[in-house]
Amino acid sequence: MVRERTFAIIKPDAVQDGHIGEIVSAVEQEGFTIHGLRMARLTRDLIKGFYLEHLHKPFYPELEEFMLEGPVLLMVLEGEDAVARWREIMGVTDPLEAAPGTLRRKFGRNLTRNAVHGSDAPHTAGQEIHYFFSALDLV
Ligand code: RTP
Ligand code: MG
Repeated sequence: MVRERTFAIIKPDAVQDGHIGEIVSAVEQEGFTIHGLRMARLTRDLIKGFYLEHLHKPFYPELEEFMLEGPVLLMVLEGEDAVARWREIMGVTDPLEAAPGTLRRKFGRNLTRNAVHGSDAPHTAGQEIHYFFSALDLV
């Protein structure tokens, strides 16, 4: 086991639906420590840069419109195997296929509106953290 950081987002659907508290509670109950936390309203350019790997996929326009819908909560989380463990807690991408008890199963609606984001590997976690947070914003 390795202590590491991951990057998470509470997406516009979960913020609009009033689930920030429950999701941050899950973060703490699962033993993560919070090292960065900020509300943000993303712009088209920020979303493009963040989801570069998906830019040319058919679902990208829908994803971009969704992420523009409203504010998000950006989080830097630390814990043992944080990257893989946060993805387990989120559940798989499609909320309808996500395991019972996972955040996406509880709070997501469909493949696009799936409540939360989590980095998919330690090196992407590092990139994503520095994309949104400067060293001064991290504790
Ligand atoms: P995320 O990056 O947000 O943590 O999600 P993920 O790894 O589970 O899924 P990924 O393949 O990276 O997709 C990024 C986000 O794009 C939206 N999506 N829509 N309609 C579709 O076919 C589709 N596929 C993906 C979701 O919001 C997904 O989380
Ligand atoms: Mg992903």
